[in-house]
Amino acid sequence: MPQEQTTIAALSQPPSNDMSGEAVEHLIFAVTDVEDLRRNGPVILAQGSGIRVTDLDGRSYVDMIGSGSRANSLGYGREDLARAYHDQALRMHFPGTGNFTTEPTIRLAKTLAQITPGDLSRCFFTSGGSEAVESALKLAKASQQDSGRKPRAYKVISRWNAYHGSTMGAMSVTNWLSVAQSTEPRVPGVSFVPSPKNYRNPLGLSEESFAEVCARALERQILLEGPDQVAAFIAEPVMQADGVQIAPRSYWEQVREICDRYGVYLIIDEVICGFGRTGKWFASEHFGIRPDLMTMAKAMTAGYAPMGCAIAAEAVAAPIGHFRHVHTYSGHPACAAVANAVIATKAKNGLVEQAGARGPRILAQLKAEVEPLAIVGQVRGLGHWHAIEFTADKATRAVFTDNTVVAVRDRLRRKGVMVGIVGQSLEIAPPLIATDTEIFDAIAIIAEAIREIAAERGLDRG
Ligand SMILES: Cc1ncc(COP(=O)(O)O)c(C=O)c1O
Repeated sequence: MPQEQTTIAALSQPPSNDMSGEAVEHLIFAVTDVEDLRRNGPVILAQGSGIRVTDLDGRSYVDMIGSGSRANSLGYGREDLARAYHDQALRMHFPGTGNFTTEPTIRLAKTLAQITPGDLSRCFFTSGGSEAVESALKLAKASQQDSGRKPRAYKVISRWNAYHGSTMGAMSVTNWLSVAQSTEPRVPGVSFVPSPKNYRNPLGLSEESFAEVCARALERQILLEGPDQVAAFIAEPVMQADGVQIAPRSYWEQVREICDRYGVYLIIDEVICGFGRTGKWFASEHFGIRPDLMTMAKAMTAGYAPMGCAIAAEAVAAPIGHFRHVHTYSGHPACAAVANAVIATKAKNGLVEQAGARGPRILAQLKAEVEPLAIVGQVRGLGHWHAIEFTADKATRAVFTDNTVVAVRDRLRRKGVMVGIVGQSLEIAPPLIATDTEIFDAIAIIAEAIREIAAERGLDRG
């Protein structure tokens, strides 16, 4: 059959209840192991309301992970957010790029300047997080070079385990082993230093001592690369890899001081942390971080429209006479209208403050109910974002080399609770609109699933 006819035939068919075969045949799934896909199939969601979603077969799940990529911060089926997009699309859906812009985009930039920490005030909008990182890296290099302070600065330092996105520049500053290998050869000029680590670190030091080692490693690396060639250091304020990794405030103070000493811009990647996930508008606020540039996306539009942003301090943006960088949908007005509505809703309903106040109660419940379980090493987190890190041996903190962690996630899916796994950790990140009952009931089911898997594998006997 000619290609054209196949496409039209596929479009005109009503959705069948089991589209798994077609999904596997026609889609390339992001970061999904083919074996996993064969075992569990794709999850084909049909509709959602609040924090509940229903798949094509009518099975219902509680979304405890903000739609798998932590973007969903306000739940499903929101008419206000759909309408924000709809109304702006009818008024002026797309003005073009370059020097064309619109009122909602300008309003969004002004709001972001107000709610982001420190002196950040100049926005470059994108369609997602990876593009935001690309833009921030280019802004940093352009500023260093155009200001005349560092005409040869092209190098960037990143951290072990970092995830900053999938486009070539963003992937080149990524060091998360499960995705990093596929990118060779990388963009030149990137090097990596160790990043603080909770629970297990490669030197077996205390968390505080290892964080100190990591900060000193940054200074050594800047000296090694040549300070006049290093444009920026990029870091997530709370790292996702290995599950909600939280560094001490002292680490960030040292990082800021080192970056200032050598004129290196500090790029803080808030793509996954921003817009309330950690109980503050931006996770940087927990640690008093003053970024020179910051990236954001995901919860910025609560998943209702694709949008990201790189925001720079005036001192960074000012020297750039002509930013030679473009994304067609930069500042898309309908996406900006959604972002404005998302920010307004969160502010009006105090959802960020609510997440901040809930964080310690969620952590206390996890510590009481989950951390004592035989295969759990540590629970940690803040706001609406927590990790449960597993271990095969509490005494040695050994990792699981089999599929125990995946088995817990799969069991939870069968029990109707969606969570994420990252490394040896299970991650929970419920939308900010989740109720106390929804969250604490889900924690009880999580504890039950972990107990069951431990018992079935004979791992519950200490
Ligand atoms: C910290 C961080 N930066 C960048 C990205 C890339 O964002 P996107 O997937 O929207 O391109 C992600 C995505 O998970 C992220 O977590």
